[in-house]
Amino acid sequence: MASGQMSRAEALARSDCRHACHVMLYSDTKSRLFGRNSMRHIILMQMRFDGLLGFPGGMVNPQTETLEEGLSRELLEELGVAISVSVDDHVESRILPPSFPSSSSGSNLVLHFYVKKIEEDKIKEVERAAVCTAKDHGQEVLGMVRVPLYLLKRGAGGLSCFLSQSFIGNARLQLVSALLRLNLLAPRDVHRALTHSLR
Ligand code: APR
Ligand code: MG
Ligand code: MG
Repeated sequence: MASGQMSRAEALARSDCRHACHVMLYSDTKSRLFGRNSMRHIILMQMRFDGLLGFPGGMVNPQTETLEEGLSRELLEELGVAISVSVDDHVESRILPPSFPSSSSGSNLVLHFYVKKIEEDKIKEVERAAVCTAKDHGQEVLGMVRVPLYLLKRGAGGLSCFLSQSFIGNARLQLVSALLRLNLLAPRDVHRALTHSLR
């Protein structure tokens, strides 16, 4: 396993950790930018209160709820709509040491990451609810954003620019790994975007 990675069960067996769960919600789409560039998929991220991009979700207390119940509770607060996430949607769990910039209050933090595919209509409903009914809108969450899944200006724009933004913790890595794992964009284009974003 890659550094810091552990199984969901191993993570839950530890008594010295706090837990946070986040999910990448995405759908297929036939829409095109300028009627030309295929948008391919809609992937939802959020602008957080701290000015960083991240995935919806948050802190979960395994003493009182399962990881997935906690994640669904966070999604209701942040997105304003009930989305049930199951163990089958779990992708990875990774422990962050207390020294890691995003782990607060000096204890180990385990980040559990999920990916869930939903219908395009449901994604649009989430986007509307995130503004209109979500309790956290305007406070912990400043808005939902779609990830541009294409390259513009000979590779310098689109996904490359997006990846140059600032992300919470390992959200950027979670995004890039999911793009590759699910083949949401050709690996060649993901690597071009990464190369440009580091310039
Ligand atoms: N990679 C690494 N760390 C992350 C990631 C990520 N992809 N996403 C979130 N985190 C960290 C955050 O820094 C935070 O410490 O996980 C923790 C919980 O995630 P949030 O979504 O911020 O938690 P949430 O329960 O929604 O918000 C509650 O979080 O930062 C605090 O004080 C803030 O009251 C707020 C609280
Ligand atoms: Mg929250
Ligand atoms: Mg959150």
